[in-house]
Amino acid sequence: MCGIVGYIGYEDVKEILLGGLERLEYRGYDSSGIGILNDQGQVSVFKDLGRVSQLRTIVDYEEKASIGIGHTRWSTHGEPSKNNAHPHQSKNGRFTIVHNGVIENEDILRENYFASFKFISETDSEIIVELINYFYELYNDVELAIRHLMNHLNGSYALGIIDSQQPDKLYVVKNKSPLLIGLGEGFNMIGSDAMAMITKTNKFYELNDQEYAILTRDSISIFEITGAKVTRDYFITNLDKDQVNKGTYPHYMLKEIDEQAVVIRRIIDKYSDKRHERFIMDQNIIDAIKDSDRIYIIAAGTSYNAGLVGKQLFEKIANKPVDVCVASEFVYNQPVLSQKPLFIFISQSGETADSRAVLVNVNKLGYPSLAVTNVENSTLYREATYNLLLHAGPEIAVASTKAYTAQIAVLAICAYLTVDVKEFDLIHELSLAANVIESICDQKEILKELASCFLRDTRNCFYIGRHVDYAVAMEASLKLKEISYIQTEGFAAGELKHGTIALIEKDTPVIAIISQEEINLNTRSNVKEVKTRGANTLVISLKSISSESDGFVIDDVHKLLTPLVTVVPTQILAYYAALERGLDIDKPRNLAKSVTVE
Ligand code: G6P
Repeated sequence: MCGIVGYIGYEDVKEILLGGLERLEYRGYDSSGIGILNDQGQVSVFKDLGRVSQLRTIVDYEEKASIGIGHTRWSTHGEPSKNNAHPHQSKNGRFTIVHNGVIENEDILRENYFASFKFISETDSEIIVELINYFYELYNDVELAIRHLMNHLNGSYALGIIDSQQPDKLYVVKNKSPLLIGLGEGFNMIGSDAMAMITKTNKFYELNDQEYAILTRDSISIFEITGAKVTRDYFITNLDKDQVNKGTYPHYMLKEIDEQAVVIRRIIDKYSDKRHERFIMDQNIIDAIKDSDRIYIIAAGTSYNAGLVGKQLFEKIANKPVDVCVASEFVYNQPVLSQKPLFIFISQSGETADSRAVLVNVNKLGYPSLAVTNVENSTLYREATYNLLLHAGPEIAVASTKAYTAQIAVLAICAYLTVDVKEFDLIHELSLAANVIESICDQKEILKELASCFLRDTRNCFYIGRHVDYAVAMEASLKLKEISYIQTEGFAAGELKHGTIALIEKDTPVIAIISQEEINLNTRSNVKEVKTRGANTLVISLKSISSESDGFVIDDVHKLLTPLVTVVPTQILAYYAALERGLDIDKPRNLAKSVTVE
């Protein structure tokens, strides 16, 4: 979703902005732009539809300038177009802004302040820049104008602002939408996440909601909306800039699929003692889980699907009841809660606005919460009572793969640590699962052929499974639809005959996942039901319960950890299905990696 980058320093700003935007591409966007301010107070704006590579071709700027802002836009207000792309400028040219977020009271602001004003774009962002100008003309003070602006805006906004009359200042404002300040020597930066700035600095200041900051080349001053100065320490991220490259891989997604075995091993390492004999975790987290009478898992997308597996893990290992809730539903339709709930927020990015909206309510209600996220110091990480990191390394492809398996592994450890008498050795079982993942990744050629045979020309496809395989079927189908645009759903295998079977016609691909002995025969009879109606069936099974005709057989792992391995062939199938169709695998249409608006 929208990405922001900004720079003030002495180096050539154009290249820094374009490079920053390229590192934000993974968030998803449909247009991009930059605004550069030179020492003479002239602002040049370049923007266009499409990729940053397209923007590069139109940035015709040879002057020396060292302050600027850039933006990748994922449309919410107004269609994707050059006109609606950011930066936006006040009509008199004085102020230029980039904005991430949604202004909820845009109509009221239009009516109250700009009833007869002709806006150039259809965006809510243009109102912001005109409002800054309006308040500036009223108070003759930019800082005061920004404070008034903040007092008038409802909704989410991260803003980078340049004032053509002040080529030595970069203003930044934040409410709800993510934004970090990067601290450099002789320069300072802003960015939607650390990734945008990581080649320049690993030191960051966080901005809280309703705060603004003024950056010069040598200073960073942070203020509350009242104007009171805030003192805050910077933090250092251990994000490795080399991890942000795809190396020799054609796509990040393939690299990230392959990394899953290493990620599981890293998780074992990070959450166990030196000799890898027992897991260790903050005792407060274990106590919070033990003390709760019910866990509410809140998440979206792939993280929600990982939550479905997490429910099985908590219920089967720790006998703890769990509800898994779609964040965007929970926030407006909260169920009756138990007496002592614990909220677990699962989120790769730690920024998903739907999940955050729930966390804000949970915090207001005073309930304990745990964020399980891949991004240290992300919003959910900071705002939840407790946090656990996934240690998956940066996930760049929009379609989440290694974060999903990491989420399952971390949830398994949580559940495992809350029981006193351990019935199996989770360290050993996770290590075995990592080995099996590796062996699946070595069989890509087989999966490539299966993708070609089952998914090359199809319009739709169904994944089916029972028990925990149903949860994996949901994730498998999400992966496939996200990147191949094949219409696909994951179904409870037994539920097919209660309606969906009507959709089965000749050659409809139906892929069954079978990993549990107790459902083996039942799911197989569902496979027969669709096969006799013409479906093209493929079974992915575990060795001990496999049958000769199964299309892809996986070595056995512990019965509670099967999702870690059964999901992998489905990720690879999705990858090759999209590749066959010549699609943009890492940046599928319409999707954003980090969805920072509700
Ligand atoms: C977006 C992405 C999905 C992701 C979901 C939740 O919709 O396209 O891939 O699963 O957000 O993201 P989170 O960062 O909270 O896990």
